[in-house]
Amino acid sequence: MKLARKHLLGLEGVSRSEIETILNAAESFKEILDRKIPKVPTLRGKTAVNLFFEPSTRTRVSFELAEKRLSADSISVAAKTSSSVKGESLIDTVKNLEAMKIDFLIVRHEAAGAAHFLASRIDVSVINAGDGCHEHPTQALLDLFTMRQRFGGLDGLKVVIIGDIAHSRVARSNLWGLKALGANVTICAPPTFLPPGIENLGAEVSTDLDDAIDGADVAMVLRIQKERQGEHLLPSFREYARLFGLNGKRAARLKKTGFIMHPGPMNRGVEIAPEVADGPRSVILDQVTNGVALRMAVLYLLSGGEIDDAMAH
Ligand code: CP
Repeated sequence: MKLARKHLLGLEGVSRSEIETILNAAESFKEILDRKIPKVPTLRGKTAVNLFFEPSTRTRVSFELAEKRLSADSISVAAKTSSSVKGESLIDTVKNLEAMKIDFLIVRHEAAGAAHFLASRIDVSVINAGDGCHEHPTQALLDLFTMRQRFGGLDGLKVVIIGDIAHSRVARSNLWGLKALGANVTICAPPTFLPPGIENLGAEVSTDLDDAIDGADVAMVLRIQKERQGEHLLPSFREYARLFGLNGKRAARLKKTGFIMHPGPMNRGVEIAPEVADGPRSVILDQVTNGVALRMAVLYLLSGGEIDDAMAH
């Protein structure tokens, strides 16, 4: 099975079978990462540039690791130390990178649509590593992978996404991906964190966390995005923690087999209590581990690689 696309810009419109192809490939790459020497020559001769206009720890490092594990040449550019601070436009920056004959551009930018804009103007494979409040497809894919790893499949799972939905690209990408794989999604947030029209995206909407989380399989907790003025939509962090923070008592309302996710970085004591983040039901660090294999899968498939039936288990 191959992925008939050159770019990964979002999960909106990506089919169940495409998502399953990516998750199946990630399964195989995860096995490679468990080897003594976790490196394969698959992308030898290819060059990837990771261009980040916003801060990142997990996404940037896991893309770099994925590229290195696949033997691609990997270069990371932090916008703060690039010529964009001298006023160079985004498209000029990227056209110059393209002129150096790169194969992949992994881009994070504060403007929604930045990755789409670039993909329509350059002849390089573009991967969206987060565009403003719009989409973060590889984060959602690694989240789906982590859920599938735990439950075997997502059909009929009850997943509650909690918190700053208005500013969350992770929530949007997860919504598309979860729906494609047959999960039932509830969005739970204070009204000020609910973007207009969210109810039209096929999710239940709740403003009562105790009710929403009752009997759920997965609680996906989101960070309040202070850099996007998220805190100004709240009376106080204390009030938020009281009404929407995931503490031990609330987490106990999940199904016995239920678990807790967070894309990171976390505001401990605000959206999630430390005992929950570090507790036995938390798979937060598993998500991070899975990010490397998942990003290897995306790079491999976008380069034209295919998975055989054996890989697709
Ligand atoms: N989840 C996520 O995107 O984390 P980073 O901002 O650290 O990349």
